[in-house]
Amino acid sequence: MRIRTHTNPFNYFARMEPLDFKAIFPNFNNTFDFEVGFGRGLFMRHYGAMFPNRNLVGIEVRKSPVTLLKKKLEQEKLTNVYPIHGNAQICLEDQIPDTIIERCFVFHPDPWFKKRHQKRRVVNPTFLKTLAKKMKPEAKLYISTDVGPLWEAMKETVMESGLFDEIEDTSFWDTIYCTEWQLWSVKDQRQKWYGTFQRR
Ligand SMILES: C[S@@+](CC[C@H](N)C(=O)[O-])C[C@H]1O[C@@H](n2cnc3c(N)ncnc32)[C@H](O)[C@@H]1O
Repeated sequence: MRIRTHTNPFNYFARMEPLDFKAIFPNFNNTFDFEVGFGRGLFMRHYGAMFPNRNLVGIEVRKSPVTLLKKKLEQEKLTNVYPIHGNAQICLEDQIPDTIIERCFVFHPDPWFKKRHQKRRVVNPTFLKTLAKKMKPEAKLYISTDVGPLWEAMKETVMESGLFDEIEDTSFWDTIYCTEWQLWSVKDQRQKWYGTFQRR
């Protein structure tokens, strides 16, 4: 069963230490992929195993799933996956070098239904502006949700940023996409919304 355990990302505002990705990844090649809000990290593990020649950095604001994922990655000897605990916006600003991300994944972000909480949504104009700076030209942003109004709001924010174009990329969604929330969503027969956007 899925339970929404919300952590207010604004509780994490402390600046973060820069990271040495050359030391972190055994096969670092000046690029990596980036997952925002990986939850329990099913996609992180799945993607790391599927693409041993790519590196994946993830950021998650809840601490306990990060600790659990680190243990699993050690057991599975996945050295191309690196989870970070904190707020995606601060992590991007302080820890992610410019023009390095090739693919960014935002799957089932928290909807923050109440109007007064909507400023906590992770896909917002500031986030997109910062992310675009960290992405390579033509890098891809993958977004999914099973909440219709959230999808409309996210798509509008992405298109209004003027930084991305929507593109077709069915092979990713058909063959690679796999997250815990997506599996619950399928089980609950919820409608799905997803899209791929390319950095201009
Ligand atoms: C609904 S869960 C989805 C988890 C996973 N992506 C999946 O599809 O199974 C959303 C996750 O995003 C995390 N999150 C929300 N805002 C965040 C932020 N600003 N920075 C990092 N993680 C965030 C939440 O803690 C939560 O674990």
